[in-house]
Formats: sequence, structure tokens, C-alpha cells
Amino acid sequence: MIKLAPSMLSADFAYLADQIKIVESAGAQYLHIDVMDGHFVPNMSFAAPVIKSIRPHSSMVFDVHLMISDPYRYIDDFVKAGADIITFHVNSDSDVDATIEKIKSQGVKCGLAVNPDVDIELLYPYRDKIDMVLIMSVFAGFGGQSYIPDVNEKIKKAREFFGPDMDIQVDGGINAQNKDIPVSCGANVLVAGTAVFGADDIAQAVADFLN
Ligand code: DX5
Ligand code: ZN
Repeated sequence: MIKLAPSMLSADFAYLADQIKIVESAGAQYLHIDVMDGHFVPNMSFAAPVIKSIRPHSSMVFDVHLMISDPYRYIDDFVKAGADIITFHVNSDSDVDATIEKIKSQGVKCGLAVNPDVDIELLYPYRDKIDMVLIMSVFAGFGGQSYIPDVNEKIKKAREFFGPDMDIQVDGGINAQNKDIPVSCGANVLVAGTAVFGADDIAQAVADFLN
């Protein structure tokens, strides 16, 4: 089954809880939460206190995507805030094994991410330790960019290597019109920001994805 993970980055933060409830009632399974530090990526978003505030308003899976230089240092904050899955970039400054261990030892699922210019093979050594692979289909940092078709081969390669049971998430530039492209390559979790929270009718946008 394909899971939809609307990215909160494109929500109207003045009505955050209300908008999250709309995507939840419409059937989206994950809430994708993009954390940016202005250092690993050239943009800033929000951090653990915002996640903690929305946690009581939703029982969706909180899928936290860390685009930060030193994820290890902040894992405890995101676990306490209510993350269900924490994904970090394999080429961040933190020790990968130690960061995976820190996440998993607290009963939280762990994902590893690669930007379009990062080789998927860098994730191969962690196959048995992680729960999700995140393949960026735009360069991490901003919502509203266009899907990079070159990543299709990377998605296929990842599905082949990681097998049928691994969650393979694709993030960036996905909408109801092109969603079948990553899916046909092997993705089973789709992130969509602009196409969901940027739509006039958010519930209808979720339905368009799930149908
Ligand atoms: C980009 C973020 C994405 C982004 C997706 O750095 O990781 O999750 O919000 O937004 P859209 O769907 O607009 O490309
Ligand atoms: Zn993301």
C-alpha cells in the first residue's frame, strides 16, 4: 500500500493543528515534518518545540526529516517531542552508527536520507539497522521545487537492494499527476508539500493522491 506523507512545511502555520486534522481525516498516514538548521541546508524551518505543540492534536505517524548538520546532538529532543520516525542525512556531520543507535534505542524508527547527488550505495551498510530509506527527488532545503527524473534509477536500485519490506520514501516535487512515476520505480511512501497544503482544497488533494 502506498502511504502519503504530507509535508507540513507548506502548511499555514497560523492554522497548523486545523490543517493537520484535515489531512489526517482525509486518510494521509504520515505527517512529514521538515526540520532545517540553516547550515546543512540554506533554509530554516522549525524544531522540536513546534512538534511537541502539535503532538496532542494528531495521532498520525510523525515522520521527522532532519536536514541538520549534527542530528546526533538533537535526537533526544525530537524523541521527547513525539517523533515516531526520525530520518537524517547519511552525509551529515554525525556518526551514522551512533545516531541510528540513539534513535532506535528509544523505540523510534530510523530513516536514512540521500540528496540527489549522494550515492545510494552509501546506505547499503545500514540495511539491517534502518526502517526507511529517504530518496530526495529535489535538493533538500525548499518546498515547491520540480521533481528530478534522474532519481528514478536510484529508486529502482534502492528497491532492488533493500528488498520488498523496506519503506522507500521519495521526497520533493511530487503531485497527483506525477505520483505514479516514483511508485512504478519502487517507492511506497510519498512526501508531498505544495501539492497537499498548497491546494485550495486540502482534503481533496489528499484524496487525489490516495485514489
Ligand atoms: C525539501 C523537503 C520536502 C519538501 C517537499 O527540503 O524535504 O519535504 O517540503 O515539498 P514539495 O512537495 O513542495 O516539493
Ligand atoms: Zn522532507
